Amino acid sequence: MIPVETAEEQEIVNRVFAANQGHVFRFWNELTGESRKRLLDQLNAFDFKQIAELTNRYIGSKTSNPLKRQLEPVRIIPPISAASDRKRFEQIRKLGEKAIMDNNVAALVVAGGQGTRLGFDGPKGMFPAGCVTGKSLFQLFAERINATEKKYNSTIPWYILTSQQNDAETRAFFKDNQYFNLNPAHIRFFRQGVMPGLTPYGKLILDAKDHISVNPDGHGGSLLALRKSGALADCRNRGIKWLFYFQIDNVLVKICDPLFLGYHIQRDAEMSVKVVTKRDPYEKVGVIGVVDGKVKVIEYSDLSVEEMEACNPNGRLKYNGGNIALHIINVDFIESLVSDGVKLPFHKAFKKIPTIDDAGNPVESEDSNGYKFEMFIFDALPAAREVVVMEVLREEEFSPIKNATGFDSPETARQDMSNFYGQWLEQAGYNVPRDQNGNVTINIEISPMLALEADELPARLPANLDLTSDLYLE
Ligand code: UD1
Repeated sequence: MIPVETAEEQEIVNRVFAANQGHVFRFWNELTGESRKRLLDQLNAFDFKQIAELTNRYIGSKTSNPLKRQLEPVRIIPPISAASDRKRFEQIRKLGEKAIMDNNVAALVVAGGQGTRLGFDGPKGMFPAGCVTGKSLFQLFAERINATEKKYNSTIPWYILTSQQNDAETRAFFKDNQYFNLNPAHIRFFRQGVMPGLTPYGKLILDAKDHISVNPDGHGGSLLALRKSGALADCRNRGIKWLFYFQIDNVLVKICDPLFLGYHIQRDAEMSVKVVTKRDPYEKVGVIGVVDGKVKVIEYSDLSVEEMEACNPNGRLKYNGGNIALHIINVDFIESLVSDGVKLPFHKAFKKIPTIDDAGNPVESEDSNGYKFEMFIFDALPAAREVVVMEVLREEEFSPIKNATGFDSPETARQDMSNFYGQWLEQAGYNVPRDQNGNVTINIEISPMLALEADELPARLPANLDLTSDLYLE
């Protein structure tokens, strides 16, 4: 018997026992009123039917997605880089520019992750990433949005997905920095949901006497969070039709790229995705392919070695399109997906989940002890009526900060940013110092407020440029 005070509380307790999760009340007799309320509030928010489904469906099976699948290559729009090429695509680009000018486009960044691999203490968006200025990722993106608004004389609302852990700090960072000169009326933070961790027997895990261990529900949770927070309704009220979705870690992201938008609109797509050629067969990026006639991203952890290594007769990788997590998603499409709860599948990961011992003291498990569940945004792709898959050049659009050292680290991002802006200066006629590997040997950063794209730069450059030491142009 668990003594409670109200009929509502009794009803929660009954539900917990009916779901065979009564062990969470192990310390009930030691808890004070406040702590009891904390535990009951948490339990009240859980969907026990979903927890039972997760246990039945995912725990004990070998892969996140136990279904057998037949992967096929997908048609990809090839990259467009040379200036001559660009002219041919001007009409498509204009469609995207019009959508921006008509105030139909918003930006959505997913910044709820914990940045464990990077080992940065704080929301990852606060990481200093400007290769000369040390501007934070948030500031780099804010300035790109600001410059795009100015260029097209439009408003681009910015939706920022946070998590329970980093929401307050993220908001404070923007406030302390005067929203990086953006109008705060057009910035909206919204928090993603959580999922409880489960033992291999499908049991909830206490991480305190009055608290159950939970983790963010993955960036796929952004869709439901958009609705629950009112951000989706806000999109509607503002006349937003398309969301430009990006991750917090990519220093080269071309926010609201008009060409990408243009293709998406021209083909009347519901969700689109950008890819780059994989660096090598084992690069940790999801790959794009077709399964059962539907475009899908297969996460790197779900690819077999045979699939990673498969080649075409010309020697190119068969599944070469690496997902760089840049999407355009229609507001209508999101509404249809979330109108009736979430329809995205869950992915499981067996991890070390902090817990407590029989005396209620915290213990760090030495081995993985439970499952975490997450939803991935790209699992919405198969539900889309039409998907545009567009390849872009890695050196122009993809350099994520994920690891503390090595590939995809602050060091590679710094180099990639300098190479990227170095190329702009070369196009403008300057000799930029490079080493024998082709890497620019000084740090170069250009503010988007000076030039958002390479062709805007020459007319705005100062008369004399010193390219013997680090250079910041604003
Ligand atoms: C991700 C993609 C991978 C892609 C790669 C490109 C997944 C599962 N995989 O891998 O297909 O090739 O990026 O860079 O996404 N986030 C949240 N809430 C969460 C979890 C994550 O907002 O609950 C955000 C993070 O802040 C980050 C982004 O999602 O912006 C990606 O998360 P991360 O765990 O770094 O994904 P990757 O494994 O790098």
